[in-house]
Amino acid sequence: MEIKLAKTAGFCFGVQRAVDTVHEQIKSGLTPIYTYGPIVHNETVVKELEEQGVCVLNTKEELASLEQGTVIIRAHGIGKEIYDLLGKKGINLVDATCPFVRKIHRIVEQEGAKGRQILIIGNAKHPEVEGIRGWCSGPSYVVESVEEAQNFTINSSEKLCIVSQTTFNYNKFKDLVEIISKKGYDIIVLNTICSATEERQTEAKEIASQVDAMIVVGGSHSSNTQKLFEICKKECENTYYIQSLEDLDLKTSPSIRYVGITAGASTPNKIIEEVQKHVRVKF
Ligand code: F3S
Repeated sequence: MEIKLAKTAGFCFGVQRAVDTVHEQIKSGLTPIYTYGPIVHNETVVKELEEQGVCVLNTKEELASLEQGTVIIRAHGIGKEIYDLLGKKGINLVDATCPFVRKIHRIVEQEGAKGRQILIIGNAKHPEVEGIRGWCSGPSYVVESVEEAQNFTINSSEKLCIVSQTTFNYNKFKDLVEIISKKGYDIIVLNTICSATEERQTEAKEIASQVDAMIVVGGSHSSNTQKLFEICKKECENTYYIQSLEDLDLKTSPSIRYVGITAGASTPNKIIEEVQKHVRVKF
């Protein structure tokens, strides 16, 4: 059996950097260590870190109740008020916000200061988008669908700055920007989509179109893994979505000679390697 492993499978640059940051903090020996939200959407990674003493804070209230320790900010980033809150409390903050997300924070902060209202193309409930909104000093809006773009209105004298959630689909971003551009506002558009997601999806699609079976590895709550699964399933009926090797129930059949493997941005290499090794040895 031949295996094709996607080069883009697994942690993106920002997630790798955030996980490395947590390991560095563990090594430093300074405790207690917290992450604000799970560092990646992968239960295995989070559990392993918990075993090494890293606690996950899930709410702002939990964060506010801290008296001491180190809080690591994950790749998604946070709003300005959280930095202020930690600063006021004198809690040590280690910032693992992905530089691409940090760049968006700076854009919306600067453009807001110049008097532009901010429109984010993305999912309003996503922590990255919530964090970006936390850097907008004036009004900010979020648009995710064609319908929302069509219904979007602000005062005609207002100026607008449009940015995107880093993981938004580029074609959809273009379509939504086009709808809003027709409304006649003074607009500047900054495409802040990160290429890592697009490259991963393009490669997964290409591999899935060539293989007899496709394995997508990633956490069940990882939206980018779910998206990868959908893309692959369209190309290859025999697509499996697994969180780890235990979930894999790949049926052997003489017709399966070529297997593709890809993984979401929150899947550690160790799990991808285990799956790859298993498929190689077993079949
Ligand atoms: Fe950063 Fe792009 Fe990953 S924005 S966290 S490198 S998907």
